[in-house]
Amino acid sequence: MQEIKKGDKISTLRIELIKGDITKVMADAIVNAANSTLLGGGGVDAAIHRAAGPKLLAECATLKGCATGSAKITKGYNLPAKFVIHTVGPVWSGGKHSEEKLLAGCYSNCLSLAREHSLESIAFPSISTGAYRFPIKPASRIALNTVKTCLEKDPGVLKKVIFVLFSDNDLAVYQENYRDLFPES
Ligand code: APR
Repeated sequence: MQEIKKGDKISTLRIELIKGDITKVMADAIVNAANSTLLGGGGVDAAIHRAAGPKLLAECATLKGCATGSAKITKGYNLPAKFVIHTVGPVWSGGKHSEEKLLAGCYSNCLSLAREHSLESIAFPSISTGAYRFPIKPASRIALNTVKTCLEKDPGVLKKVIFVLFSDNDLAVYQENYRDLFPES
């Protein structure tokens, strides 16, 4: 259990790192690493659409896309999760095109939507670190740092944030950065 300090209030909010398939995770919302069309693709995007069923694509089609760094919410349909929060990560192009800022925006905008919808749990994949080639080490540091900062500011009613990694290597990188960020844990 990681205690996140918000002002003088300590909220006992859990941050979990697990290895697995995000489409199987029981959370109020799972996050999809989508592309700007929101009309599906490969990787986790394909897995989520496959598990959610065709109604997810139909709802996504009404959203008219999503800008890089932003996030939009839909129902979860056949997924265990009630909602899917679709976000579009930056494509890594060497680090001089605001990639870090845009990736941080993905996490903070997903958490803003979680707060607006009074969600108690949210699961993130490792955004941008697959097809978009964002190096896993800095990406995991940005992910954990941004989530920690946002939760310290205003966790809303969030009780659990889960990072769902898809490989042993990615999990180990997140665990190492987590230890740096929460040394007392
Ligand atoms: N559960 C959890 N994580 C997964 C799953 C899954 N079922 N499938 C893949 N991943 C992991 C990948 O291993 C990677 O670590 O999600 C991370 C993000 O990889 P991508 O899905 O390739 O997403 P991204 O790098 O953000 O690229 C997005 O790829 O699929 C397309 O439509 C998508 O164009 C967009 C681009």
